[in-house]
Amino acid sequence: MCGIVGAMAQRNVVPILLEGLQRLEYRGYDSAGLVVVNDKMLERVRSTGRVKELASRSADTQGQLGIAHTRWATHGAPSIKNAHPHQSRDMIAVVHNGIIENYEELRARLKSEGYEFTSETDTEVIAHLIHSHYMHGNSLLVSVQTALKELEGAYALGVIAADNPNQLICARRGSPLLLGVGIGENFVASDVSALLPVTNRVIYLEEGDVVEVERESYRIFDAHGKPVDRAVQVSEISNESVQLGNYRHYMQKEIHEQPSAISDTLESVCNSTSISPGIFGADAAATFSEVNSILILACGTSYHAGMVARYWLEEIAGIQCTVEIASEYRYRTSVPNLNALVVVLSQSGETADTMAALNHAKDMGQGNTLAICNVPESALIRASKLRFLTRAGPEIGVASTKAFTTQLVALFLLTLVLAKQRGRLVQETEFVHALRHLPSAVQKVLDMEPQIATLAERFASKHHALFLGRGMHYPIALEGALKLKEISYIHAEAYPAGELKHGPLALVDKDMPVISVAPNDTLLEKLKSNLQEVRARGGELYVFADADTLISESDGVNVIQMPEHAGYLSPVLHTIPLQLLAYYVALQKGTDVDKPRNLAKSVTVE
Ligand code: AGP
Repeated sequence: MCGIVGAMAQRNVVPILLEGLQRLEYRGYDSAGLVVVNDKMLERVRSTGRVKELASRSADTQGQLGIAHTRWATHGAPSIKNAHPHQSRDMIAVVHNGIIENYEELRARLKSEGYEFTSETDTEVIAHLIHSHYMHGNSLLVSVQTALKELEGAYALGVIAADNPNQLICARRGSPLLLGVGIGENFVASDVSALLPVTNRVIYLEEGDVVEVERESYRIFDAHGKPVDRAVQVSEISNESVQLGNYRHYMQKEIHEQPSAISDTLESVCNSTSISPGIFGADAAATFSEVNSILILACGTSYHAGMVARYWLEEIAGIQCTVEIASEYRYRTSVPNLNALVVVLSQSGETADTMAALNHAKDMGQGNTLAICNVPESALIRASKLRFLTRAGPEIGVASTKAFTTQLVALFLLTLVLAKQRGRLVQETEFVHALRHLPSAVQKVLDMEPQIATLAERFASKHHALFLGRGMHYPIALEGALKLKEISYIHAEAYPAGELKHGPLALVDKDMPVISVAPNDTLLEKLKSNLQEVRARGGELYVFADADTLISESDGVNVIQMPEHAGYLSPVLHTIPLQLLAYYVALQKGTDVDKPRNLAKSVTVE
């Protein structure tokens, strides 16, 4: 969602701001803007196009202090007037990520004080509020701190003043923001990838932090206004890891990175034949021995990973597991189990609904929490008692791919640890061996790419598609359908195959391609009967079948042979062709694969 970049240097910061915005494009946005201080004046440029358009509009803009923003519309349509930065009386300029919940009340009050509003956004109230305090003679820092006390909701903020070319104030509560520490220059950004060309030394700001940034120094104040030191960390993310290289899209690159992402995630277990709870944190062994059930909370693709894990946790570890969509759980009156392990799953660690669901669980006394996340120092990681970092590397494409398969790996490890602790893990060495083999098994599936690219040509003219799976592959069907709709805009639904005859079979005709995941497992014969039901109604079948399933090609039955069966880890392998299918169908349709319409990478608002 919205992205923030700010810079203060002894050189023109406009190219730094633009490059930073370009690197934040993956988060999703529909307008962009920047403002610099130049000769005690604010110079603002905004655009409803891509960052490239903003760059051409700001070709003549120069300044050594500036803030910039990509906006994903919440309050008010995507338009120039609603694009950030927002200003108050040509003095204060603000960029904001998050939502101010009490903005209507503040807007009414500020209007009565004579402030004129030029946008429909919630952000504009922040600019006027800060201005009102600044005009009373307060410093910019104090003006921001005072204004923040009146705000309800979430924010990451960058603030500058026309008459103060030496300071940038930033703050965060509920939305991510970090400080980039340079030599004789300092920066702020929503995520580190924006700053990699200028620095890899970062400070992850904590909830409630306010920072006074100057060229050579910075002062951080905590939520109570007390000066604090925060550690400077050297980001492990390299500039190359966020470059596209020879790939056409980030999604394609990230699909192909899955073997290395999985082996990196497995690093902690790869050198041993057994798995210990310590991989989830120092307190994990003690915590796991207290828990009697698992509650998984997540959104979208991460939710699908949780659904797969439910099968593993109940079958292998023998522990009861429920999986809930975070945005539902947070508002549902549920009965807390104080001995449950609450597992939050998130690629970004920023998802507002997942964060709120975690807080809701904690508020109800469920203190045993584990975050499985791809971003170190993310809000979710910091708010959880235990943590596991998937090592997928930066995921830029909006459609989550390598983050999903590495989440599955992390959840499988969790299953093994819990199974072991409960005395149920008889085949530990075999499982570890299967995990170690996974990267090469995934690579073999990736080698099917040319075949899937050809197959995709048959989907480009379709308007609907149905995905089927059974057991732990039902969530994989859901994930396949989500990928297809997300990037190709083809309407896709997923069902457990046994559910077909209870309704969706009515949809099946020659125009409805039916894609089925067909692993060689105990449900295979049942699945085959379900596929017959489709064929009997003239449905065109595309079956991703493991070797030895004996599903043969015939008229209307297209079989795509998978290289091998991976037992419990089969959902990981079956995900890959569905990602590739979605990718190549989107290519056929010419959609914006990495930045699909209306979507954002990090969903930091409700
Ligand atoms: C996946 O392709 C989606 N873009 C989306 O469903 C995503 O998984 C969801 O928003 C959750 O994000 P998170 O993993 O960062 O919490």
